[in-house]
Amino acid sequence: MEKKFARTLVTTALPYANGPVHIGHLAGVYVPADIYVRYLRLKGEEVLHIGGSDEHGVPVTIRAKKEGCTPQDVVDRYHGIIKQAFADFGISFDIYSRTTSATHRQHASDFFRKLYDEGKFVKQESEQFYDEEAKQFLSDRNIVGECPRCHADGAYGDQCEKCGSTLSPDELINPKNALTGNALVKRPTSHWYLPLNDYQGWLEKWILEEHKEWRSNVYGQCKSWLDAGLRPRAVTRDLEWGIPVPVEGAEGKVLYVWFDAPIGYISNTKELLPNDWEKWWKDESTRLIHFIGKDNIVFHCIVFPAMLKAEGSYILPDNVPSNEFLNLEGDKISTSRNWAVWLHEYLVDFPGKQDVLRYVLTANAPETKDNDFTWKDFQARNNSELVAIYGNFVNRALQLTKKYFNGVVPEAGELTDYDRETLNEFAGVKEEVEKLLNNFKFRDAQKEAMNLARIGNKYLADTEPWKLAKTDMPRVQTILNIALQLVANLGIAFEPFLPFSSKKLREMLNLNSFEWSNLGRIDHLAAGHTLGEAQLLFEKIEDDAINAQIERLERIKKENEVNSFTPAPVAPTVAFDDFMKLDIRVGKVLECEKVPKADKLLKFKIDDGMGGRTIVSGIAKYYKPEDLVGKEVCFIANFEPRKLKGVESQGMILSAENADGSLVVIGPQGEVKPGCKVG
Ligand code: 2FM
Ligand code: ZN
Repeated sequence: MEKKFARTLVTTALPYANGPVHIGHLAGVYVPADIYVRYLRLKGEEVLHIGGSDEHGVPVTIRAKKEGCTPQDVVDRYHGIIKQAFADFGISFDIYSRTTSATHRQHASDFFRKLYDEGKFVKQESEQFYDEEAKQFLSDRNIVGECPRCHADGAYGDQCEKCGSTLSPDELINPKNALTGNALVKRPTSHWYLPLNDYQGWLEKWILEEHKEWRSNVYGQCKSWLDAGLRPRAVTRDLEWGIPVPVEGAEGKVLYVWFDAPIGYISNTKELLPNDWEKWWKDESTRLIHFIGKDNIVFHCIVFPAMLKAEGSYILPDNVPSNEFLNLEGDKISTSRNWAVWLHEYLVDFPGKQDVLRYVLTANAPETKDNDFTWKDFQARNNSELVAIYGNFVNRALQLTKKYFNGVVPEAGELTDYDRETLNEFAGVKEEVEKLLNNFKFRDAQKEAMNLARIGNKYLADTEPWKLAKTDMPRVQTILNIALQLVANLGIAFEPFLPFSSKKLREMLNLNSFEWSNLGRIDHLAAGHTLGEAQLLFEKIEDDAINAQIERLERIKKENEVNSFTPAPVAPTVAFDDFMKLDIRVGKVLECEKVPKADKLLKFKIDDGMGGRTIVSGIAKYYKPEDLVGKEVCFIANFEPRKLKGVESQGMILSAENADGSLVVIGPQGEVKPGCKVG
């Protein structure tokens, strides 16, 4: 039986405050959550949206060391940038706080202490890597060494970025401190573990039997974790940055970031409502929903619920709608490779276009599988959906009202069968959108809202009020009355998705508020009501703006290729005598031209000091022929002649292959006569 809840508590994953946020964050977590809370608020339901920054953890300390500042400096900076970016995109939090807040430090510490006092942890000793010079244990990310799989240098203690293998620090060959290069030793250390294995049976029943309605990607991941069998998980770390473990003798240890971060949802609620927070966390009639990305599933569906269960007084999540990942132009979004569209940069390039990005990210939401963001698709969805369908309908309805009725809503007369048909199509939308939103199907729900605009456009195109204006003004009144009611409906239907445009639309209609319960009605605007000033809801995005973004990404891709360049392995040794068999000479380019019907080939006439020769070389992509005339090059003079596209090549011009695959011709650095030997 469906449970009836009194209120809904929505949480969104707390992003790490060690870098700015990008479109992947918005698409995966914050836009869907914001649509959901705006929808519930519009329905008049009691709802809270709790967010904040995740400010502990090793990546923050690494960034601080690299930048020569304190971890607190790092999180202060990024917390500010992230908070502002979310506000700019209309992500409507009731609170956006942080895990370095006093309330959180106290609450997380008390939470740990309660479980500790009640014997809910087990203490275990293990051998960990220790840097004797720095006098500290190192986290997996702070250890580098040779990858045991691909033998690349610089693999991390948790992963080799070269071959993608998941690793443990013990597997690394020659493990070292990533920052100082110091050699490491093994030392025993003690930590507290949450014995997840004790919760296995309970979790199996709670998730696999009682939450079959969870998205299949979430359910499936939980099932595979449970099938593999849960093991105790350490909830403390040897680290300076974090919340100190509140136990005597635990100096130098802090709570593991994944232990304290989800407690942040509770602390932030407490910070917002110091006297009333418990109703949101301890009352069974509260419905708790965690919006997260797929890399957070195990923590929100298994570890955090086990923590809450161990504590005993909290409710558990009713649903955990997790999205898959959004890629960018076919590649995984990556902060370290700068392969991202940063929210704060987007707004500089596309000021005022928050709703365009919200729309595109929802239309392409990675709800069931990874999806791709491309700038061409962004442009197409703006130009042919927001502008051509939604904006066009609103603009026509308002402009015609202005033209024929001076911006005053005309009175509707008798409806025709076609009018009724159109209104019937409209009436069902509310139920349909609700059903989809209640099931976290934001992509389909937005599509349904866009259909309303399609219906409106078709209605105006079919009834052609601009033609009737000459002969049948009463009919024009009815048509525009209906069209304006449809416009108001669009404002309501799109309000959770595109809040900035709905606000604009409300001003254009001169209405004070929208209510979800009125969706589908046709009496939003009384006859005689004066409309506000008409403005354009959306504007076309030109090719130049899109090309600039694509070029930026191409530049970044090039830079990354160069930065990640590792020279090819050295070929097997050759004997001196073998090397001497090659006759390398200096030559001067006398003539150079393209070889017809061969994209890659250039034909050279070379002064070789011996009467001249012809050489064909595959470098046409990288040089204009005229740029090479007069240049000195090195070539192999005793290369067996061979025919390339019908031209006999009497040697080979030497060139170096750059990191990005481009070729650069090799020549002497000083003056050398043609025909001189190289060796
Ligand atoms: O993956 C992340 O970005 C984590 N900082 C999410 C934490 S969610 C919660 F537990 F706070
Ligand atoms: Zn590797």
